[in-house]
Amino acid sequence: MGLFDRKPIAAADDGGHGMQRTLGVRDLVLLSIGAVIGAGIFSTLGTAAAGEVVDGVMVRQGAGPALVVSFALLGLVCGFAALCYAELAAMIPQAGSAYAYAYATLGELVAWIVGWALILEYAVGNIAVAISWSGYFVSLLSGFGITLPGWLTHGYWAVTASGDPAIRALLDTAPRVAGIPVLLNVPAFAIVVAITVLLLQGVKESARANAVMVAVKLAVLALFVGVGAMHINPANYTPFAPNGFTGIHQGAAIAFFAYIGFDAISTAGEETKDPQRNLPRGILLGLAVCTLIYIVVGAVATGLVPYQELRSSDPLARALQVAGLSTASWIVAAGAVVSMSAVLLVFQYGQPRIFYAMARDGLLPPFAARLHPRTRTPHITTVITGVFVSVGALLMNDAATYDLTNIGTLSAFAVVCLGVLVLRVREPERPRPFRVPFVWLVTLGGAAACVFVMRGLPASAWWAFFGWMTLGLACYAAYGYRHSTLRARAAAPSDS
Ligand code: ALA
Repeated sequence: MGLFDRKPIAAADDGGHGMQRTLGVRDLVLLSIGAVIGAGIFSTLGTAAAGEVVDGVMVRQGAGPALVVSFALLGLVCGFAALCYAELAAMIPQAGSAYAYAYATLGELVAWIVGWALILEYAVGNIAVAISWSGYFVSLLSGFGITLPGWLTHGYWAVTASGDPAIRALLDTAPRVAGIPVLLNVPAFAIVVAITVLLLQGVKESARANAVMVAVKLAVLALFVGVGAMHINPANYTPFAPNGFTGIHQGAAIAFFAYIGFDAISTAGEETKDPQRNLPRGILLGLAVCTLIYIVVGAVATGLVPYQELRSSDPLARALQVAGLSTASWIVAAGAVVSMSAVLLVFQYGQPRIFYAMARDGLLPPFAARLHPRTRTPHITTVITGVFVSVGALLMNDAATYDLTNIGTLSAFAVVCLGVLVLRVREPERPRPFRVPFVWLVTLGGAAACVFVMRGLPASAWWAFFGWMTLGLACYAAYGYRHSTLRARAAAPSDS
């Protein structure tokens, strides 16, 4: 059997293996908004607009007020990918998302590569979100007069990578154990643990908690837009694109983080009622709502203050602060904490289901495919994901993880786009509850656009990505290749 053999597409109800179908289209759109709007708009928007400066050197150009163009272009790129996700999600409504689609369309090796890249999107992405959550949480606490010591709110690698002398000074002032400075981001660790415990209670409970958090995030963004729009200074829109198309491109490459997540609901394929109808609707509707919100928020943020003022880890709160709107700024910061909790919830939900799907195919050890007897959730992989993300959040630095998340996700999106085309050519007769319109344009254009956005990321992200992928291929050679159930089934007749 070859590395590119494909897994046959199962009927919708054939792949259930015991998960409960409880989610409707409203739940899916709420899950989508829950996953999408978070650290991207509350944190990376600043870098996307104003660029990144390290040791006085501009290492990444920002879009300036043309951030709205970056957002609109990203909406188009993600729209192409979303159409492709919708076609495959409706045909292959199983847990596993892009991994499952790649297995059915491009074969096992590509599926493994995509599954491995999705760990960057879900688990590594959540490390970045948890660290950003912690930053907002700590500043909210300080508003109440509670100050946590720096060594309990900054991970070791966040400190060593920081260009801020006050943060680097923690290397000298932190307590030491065996000569090593103790530098731990405890709030980031704690929120991931709390979310993991919530997820272990079951899917419907998690969806309910998500709906509340989504309501809060929409209210807070409405407040930002409502208050901010009344204080726009049109002079801030000039020059509109200070760094030309390079700024728009590099801004889009980092702002892409804000769009990640519309695809996450495809991991709920086996827990969705009437998935052929509801998954495409949920994916496309969720993306459309978020794109609109980003364009409006981007326009208000860059009109409220000169775009350079947004170069901050909390750009929306800061923009209001600079404009003299302190109360609104505080409310937005509080809303950011809630919004990012929702993102953490959906991604901590998605990752275990991808591991589950990979283990069910024999590419990961069988314990990862066990469901809890009462909640019917993949509890073992939920705990493993919780440990990986919480420990990462405890120690790591968010800047590098944003880039790595973006490059991994874009690569998975490109494969999904190509997968749709391959399946159209190979199995044109297969029933498609949802069909991508203008399929050649959308699939090839979508894949090319994803690669183009990837090219806006710095070289360090590419090196880290290749390192991660090399590790993944080594794991596949050592385990997945030998234990694949598809391979075992193909070999069975000749063995007997
Ligand atoms: N799109 C998600 C966020 O912005 C990952 O936090």
